[in-house]
Amino acid sequence: MTLRQARGERVDAPKPGRLRLGVNIDHVATIRNARGGAHPDPVRAAEVVARAGGDGLTVHLREDRRHIRDEDLERIQAATGLPLNLEMAATDEMLEIALRHRPHAACIVPERREERTTEGGLDAAGQHNRLAPIVARLSDAGIRVSLFITPEPRQIEAAMKLGAPVVEFHTGEYAHAGDAEVAAELTRIADMAALAVKNGIEPHAGHGLTYENVQPIAAIPQLAELNIGHYLIGEAIFCGLEASVRKMRTLMDEAR
Ligand code: PXP
Repeated sequence: MTLRQARGERVDAPKPGRLRLGVNIDHVATIRNARGGAHPDPVRAAEVVARAGGDGLTVHLREDRRHIRDEDLERIQAATGLPLNLEMAATDEMLEIALRHRPHAACIVPERREERTTEGGLDAAGQHNRLAPIVARLSDAGIRVSLFITPEPRQIEAAMKLGAPVVEFHTGEYAHAGDAEVAAELTRIADMAALAVKNGIEPHAGHGLTYENVQPIAAIPQLAELNIGHYLIGEAIFCGLEASVRKMRTLMDEAR
């Protein structure tokens, strides 16, 4: 018996300070959609993520439905007991969908139809009036709102003004930084994670994270969650999704 069991603690309960791993399964649907059929099914991916020790599922219902589609949402939500984090643009259409499905969390992201992926953070500071009613309606429905922002003081301040309990830092600039800039990017994310916590906001991070670059991010003690997708699905081609999620989980745990 372990000490935690002896104390009557559930051994599967997350330890305080544990960094959660949300797995973005969108690109399973991207592959499915390439042929227009039902295979590979993102629901099966959700089940594998749960088995592999993922803490949550993330999906981005894009305006153009290029990966996850409306009918996938309910099936993914029902497939496992894992919390669902719905990434969504700040539009009336997406708000209605979120209110209908009531995911555990909604992460508001900027969305441009022609972009390949979410290329930058949301301008929460510049879009206060657009975002305020959306954040309020999601929060009133009991959905935990997160804002996908560039790690900058003015965006954290904007999240505070909007009453968002969570921010997710876009780690794209860190992931793509050259040797000369990577340390500064990391410091910026660490400083902004500390600033967020100081102001009562839970910081998450994601975008472009890989086995090679995840550990310095995972070592930032204030971060509560990482959301990782494209790399894990890509690695799954070579080693299987369960193994890719497990390996990421191990790297994150080692870094803490
Ligand atoms: N977090 C958010 C808010 C995202 O929009 C995405 C996808 O761009 C991710 C995390 C995951 O990024 P990636 O697929 O590069 O791991």
